[in-house]
Amino acid sequence: MRYAQSIRRPRILIVDDERDVLRLLTEFFQSEGFSVDTALDAVEALELLQDGHFDVALVDLVLPGISGTQLISQMKELNIPTTPILMSGYASVDSAIEALKKGVFDYVVKPFDLENLLLTVKRAVDYNVLLTETPYLEHPEAFYNFVTEIKPGMPIREIVNRTLELILLEIGADSACAFIVADESGEMERIHKCRSGGKVCFDFNPEVARDLLGDKPYVVLVGEEVKKLFPSSRGSKPEFVVVHAVEGFRKHYGFLNICGFNPLKRPTEGKLKLFQIVTAVFSTAVENTAVHNELLNAFHQTVQGLIKAIEAKDEYTRGHSERVARYSRELALEAGYPPDFAERIYQAALLHDIGKIGIRLDYLKKPDTLTEEETLLFRAHTEIGKEILLPLHFLHDVVPIVYYHHERWDGTGYPEGLKGEEIPVGARIVCITDAYDAMASSRPYREGLSKELIVEELEKNAGKQFDPELVRIFVKMIREGKLSRGEPGRDAE
Ligand SMILES: [Fe+2]
Repeated sequence: MRYAQSIRRPRILIVDDERDVLRLLTEFFQSEGFSVDTALDAVEALELLQDGHFDVALVDLVLPGISGTQLISQMKELNIPTTPILMSGYASVDSAIEALKKGVFDYVVKPFDLENLLLTVKRAVDYNVLLTETPYLEHPEAFYNFVTEIKPGMPIREIVNRTLELILLEIGADSACAFIVADESGEMERIHKCRSGGKVCFDFNPEVARDLLGDKPYVVLVGEEVKKLFPSSRGSKPEFVVVHAVEGFRKHYGFLNICGFNPLKRPTEGKLKLFQIVTAVFSTAVENTAVHNELLNAFHQTVQGLIKAIEAKDEYTRGHSERVARYSRELALEAGYPPDFAERIYQAALLHDIGKIGIRLDYLKKPDTLTEEETLLFRAHTEIGKEILLPLHFLHDVVPIVYYHHERWDGTGYPEGLKGEEIPVGARIVCITDAYDAMASSRPYREGLSKELIVEELEKNAGKQFDPELVRIFVKMIREGKLSRGEPGRDAE
């Protein structure tokens, strides 16, 4: 039966001055699962109607004082969202038409055929639910912002917080909680929000919730049923709890719950539908973020793997990539580039010498001048780097920086002899920081240069090897001690 799944029993108000009729109808509708109230006249009826929500009012045409049709007119004027049915022992076409004109849902004639009366009342309840409880948004702008602003990559906590805030705003419960597995640890994290003065149940049991839900998307627990979820007796129990599973395509991420301590504030069918919609948006956002984070981890692991491959080949580069990456990010930020751009330069700088995997490095450890052939071989590391990274789609952004990091501002560099601003800015940055770390690092054949000598060398080559403006900024950073800690060539191990 439909009403058994609903969060509350349908409420009916019967208005008749004949006590026998009231008694008969009360017993009948209660036995059919309705919550029944009665009134002997229109004044009493109006008081009850204004006090609480009734789905249906079954109103006798003839009442002492104010008539049934007048009562229904007043209900309309007062915007009382109850669906009226008129009943009368004096059936006449005229009174029926008049009643229907006044917005009466239907007209029943005494003596009643109880089965037909039940059908009419049930239709009226459905109509009322449709009319008053269809999901509608009290704060459409907040809902629009929620849907449009949640993006993959947004920290999971922020997604949860925004969702809980929207739930409290739109659904109107006393508290909203999320139990979410947000990372690979599998630990379920609890995040909750309360209305001011709201209470929270701290002993919610996710295992019990899982059993209660079974295959259902959500479950509504009312009154004593709530104890199933809160087995220990700490704190006061809510009057109702709605537990909604947070399901992605790939896995179960946890639960979204709403609780309330006032039985009169149980969510309507419409609000439950809205809760389902919000949970669906939330589930998708949680899953997108999980996938995004996994890709990001894969990216970092790949980068780390590639760096280890370079470092395994050349012990003197150990720590070099990491330092060059750090300095490059710092220089990019100091030069006013946005953080995401600086981050891309950081990743590229980590990999700038990846092409060295493909060349012999033993001769580089010699202090002697390289032969022409050795020089050409060494220079090939920019091309090899590009070839290694190109098949990795998620590293496409960093390829130009890796490929052009040996270009020179004056156009005499390699691999293509680009000049000035033709050289990607990331490559111009790495060119400076790479040279800085190389000069500062100790090699088997020489000690690292002093800060003064390095600055002198950088300034001498500004406009020749290096972008002069970037050198100016970088030298200022060196002089002001703004570069991150980590001594070049000495923090490698
Ligand atoms: Fe290089």
